[in-house]
Amino acid sequence: MYDRNWAKMDINAVPHMVTTSPGPKSQEMHARAAKYMKGLSSQVQLFPVAFASGKGCTLTDVDGNVYIDFSSGIYVTGLGHCHPKVTEAVQRAAGELMNAHDFTTPIKMRLLEKLAEITPGEGARKLAGMQLYDSGTTAVEAGLRLMRAATGKFEFISFHRDFHGKTMGAVGLARMDVSQGLRAPGFFLVPRGYCYRCEFRQKYPECGLLCVDYIRTVLKEETSGRVAGIVFEPIQGWAGSVVPPDGWIQKIRALCDEYGILMMADEVLTCMGRTGKMFAMENWATVPDVMTLGKGFGNGFPVTAMLVAEKYKDVIEKISASTSYGGNPMACAAALASIEVIQEEDLCERSSHLGEILLARMKQIEANSPIVGEARGMGCLLGLELVKDKATREPFDQAGKLVYQKAFRKGLAWIPAGHILRMSPPLIMEDEMAMKAMDIIEESIHETARELGYEA
Ligand SMILES: Cc1ncc(COP(=O)(O)O)c(C=O)c1O
Repeated sequence: MYDRNWAKMDINAVPHMVTTSPGPKSQEMHARAAKYMKGLSSQVQLFPVAFASGKGCTLTDVDGNVYIDFSSGIYVTGLGHCHPKVTEAVQRAAGELMNAHDFTTPIKMRLLEKLAEITPGEGARKLAGMQLYDSGTTAVEAGLRLMRAATGKFEFISFHRDFHGKTMGAVGLARMDVSQGLRAPGFFLVPRGYCYRCEFRQKYPECGLLCVDYIRTVLKEETSGRVAGIVFEPIQGWAGSVVPPDGWIQKIRALCDEYGILMMADEVLTCMGRTGKMFAMENWATVPDVMTLGKGFGNGFPVTAMLVAEKYKDVIEKISASTSYGGNPMACAAALASIEVIQEEDLCERSSHLGEILLARMKQIEANSPIVGEARGMGCLLGLELVKDKATREPFDQAGKLVYQKAFRKGLAWIPAGHILRMSPPLIMEDEMAMKAMDIIEESIHETARELGYEA
């Protein structure tokens, strides 16, 4: 166990801005890189800063400005930047053996055994079948192939505004853009339990979760009846930390069981304590048949996994599951060390506590601001939805962009999503720093509301 003080900072010294940000060195470096590197996220396009280093919950840019990290990369570094245990484990592995394809290595064996200790489920439902990958989207693809092989069926149902990656199978599960052309046959999307913007104009709980019942209609009227799997994010990340209403996940489980459809929870973003539990599905005491892990799994090292229920474990044999980098020793070392840190430092509890205090503060901001429509989230996966009018709930993209940039300029690194502001602090953050970040956010919201004529 490491001394938790490794990441401690003098709270008065963070954030620390020595130039207007992005500073001159950031601007110059970004311009040089952006000559070649295209297709950057809105996170970067709206604030093109160049980072030099990270420690714990802070990031330092190339001009020497120090930021509070409220993004964890993109939901990745939950244990903070350069946690000594993870760094040492990767360094050690890199000095011993870099790749042995899918041969067993001691570190891989230990990771698989550790995962088996913590994955949900019992008996035939225990998530005990595993394969390791190097990106979230590859793990998702493996899950799709597995569900087809396990059921002999080939169609999939997924949900509006969920995101599952950018390979050609995974894109079929989400909103398509012009570069992807037509959705592949056999992929069907349905409205999600997103009560703030219910597509059925219903009120929860009086609705009785009509959105899940509607899947029956899609099964009957749109599919050929050969649906292999229903795929979903337990909490939507990209779409703005949308937490489903209680019962939504359980009702989907029951529907899957009734129709003999497999349930796949894409936990690439929500796993490893991000929502206050090791796996988000534990918040609803529901075990999927297939689950994907990523992001926080290796705390920054590209390592992901597809997990499968014991009863479908042998089907992994049928999908030609291995890859060149999946399960390499450095990846396994990073994942094993990260899980151990979460357990040793009680980081699920910490995440849950941070979620409670942050959400309470965000609800106050929602109550006091004319442009904050909804504050929501769970654990360290949080979001604020900005609207032009609280009654009509019209999305306020311009405000989203301005608040994001203003807060970043004040020293808060975080994540925009159109009119939604996303927060993903490291699970190790101290309360005081978390509240300081909220001060910056609140101030930036007020300044934006004033600038756009919503406040005097
Ligand atoms: C839920 C979910 N699934 C899959 C992916 C794709 O992961 P990657 O970017 O590692 O390919 C993401 C990435 O943001 C994600 O949030």
